[in-house]
Amino acid sequence: MASVSASARSPQVQDENPSGHDVVSFKAADTVVQLCETRKPKPESENLSFGTVFTDHMLLIEWSSEGGWEKPRIQKFGNLSLHPACSALHYAVQLFEGMKAYRGQDDRVRLFRPMLNMERMLKSAHRACLPTFDGAELLECIRKLVEVDQDWVPHSDSASLYIRPTFLGTESSLGVKKPSRALLFVILSPVGSYFSTGNRSVSLWADSKYIRAWKGGTGDCKMGGNYGASIFAQKEAMDLNCQQVLWLYGDDHQITEVGTMNLFLYWINEDGEEELATPPLDGIILPGITRQSILELTREWGKFKVSERHLTMAALRLALQEKRVKEMFGSGTACVVSRVGKVLYQDENLQIPCEDQENSLVSRLLKELTDIQYGRTESDWTILV
Ligand SMILES: Cc1ncc(COP(=O)(O)O)c(C=O)c1O
Repeated sequence: MASVSASARSPQVQDENPSGHDVVSFKAADTVVQLCETRKPKPESENLSFGTVFTDHMLLIEWSSEGGWEKPRIQKFGNLSLHPACSALHYAVQLFEGMKAYRGQDDRVRLFRPMLNMERMLKSAHRACLPTFDGAELLECIRKLVEVDQDWVPHSDSASLYIRPTFLGTESSLGVKKPSRALLFVILSPVGSYFSTGNRSVSLWADSKYIRAWKGGTGDCKMGGNYGASIFAQKEAMDLNCQQVLWLYGDDHQITEVGTMNLFLYWINEDGEEELATPPLDGIILPGITRQSILELTREWGKFKVSERHLTMAALRLALQEKRVKEMFGSGTACVVSRVGKVLYQDENLQIPCEDQENSLVSRLLKELTDIQYGRTESDWTILV
């Protein structure tokens, strides 16, 4: 189909066209839908644990350097058949996205800012040397897939349907090179609350022993290798009775992210200003869609200073001693916002305050964002499925 290989596009062109619009791409209108004959029983939304149950169908789109993109296919959910030499399995030529479909009380199903996921996916694909595509076309394919499996979107405002777009290098060769074959697929999984502790605060282990991301690396892209390599540190955190890792960077122990969430500190800063601060997108931070939404919402409120700035453990410790910390929390699609209650750092348990839970910033953000996601507040941040 394609005469011009997507890979022929220069990085600069791709950066100027983050949604991949007008590139050689598959088209959602070409999607071949093959519905399965029998449907699986659906789980109770109260007992859902993250990413363990999958819906009846999946989306698959194949690419090769000779043939370009093939037609998207929606078909029965099932195992993949991959060549044992493919680069996704050997060299982690792989990336993914994480987004959700929410069912409102009006019974309509919404996606939250999904084009931002498409743009982030294209950025990861560029870094992984995987082919580009039109983000709006993939979004339309995902919309169709969710429509096909819409009965799987939980009837609950504490559960949702998690959408996992994934992109793999599938060339049957052990060469470490740009893949000439690729597979993009999307699977769906009904999910409840991400953490087993529900909405309670999380405890963190902060240590510079393990590094999640570094300048020039891939930490600002959603590539599987970043996550597989983090499990070892996560295990050590759990051995120390902490739930997540607070990832530090550099000799000054900059605070970067929390587990698989962006991090926010709400405090009175060194200059005595009330400030909501999060580390800047300087190459080692994943550009979270929840992070961006929190920055945009709070800037619109205009109630306190909102900054993208570096934060260090020394500054946090001093602020705690001087009782200047109001709240600290992680943000992400899985949990929206998650309060931090304790940080274990250099053998000391730093207690993070948050006295008035009802009127806290975390509670207000959780309410405003979920009101949008579940359609209780009208917003152009959602699209209907
Ligand atoms: C490392 C990391 N940081 C932050 C986030 C939060 O991003 P988002 O708000 O888009 O879910 C995620 C989750 O995708 C993540 O994996």
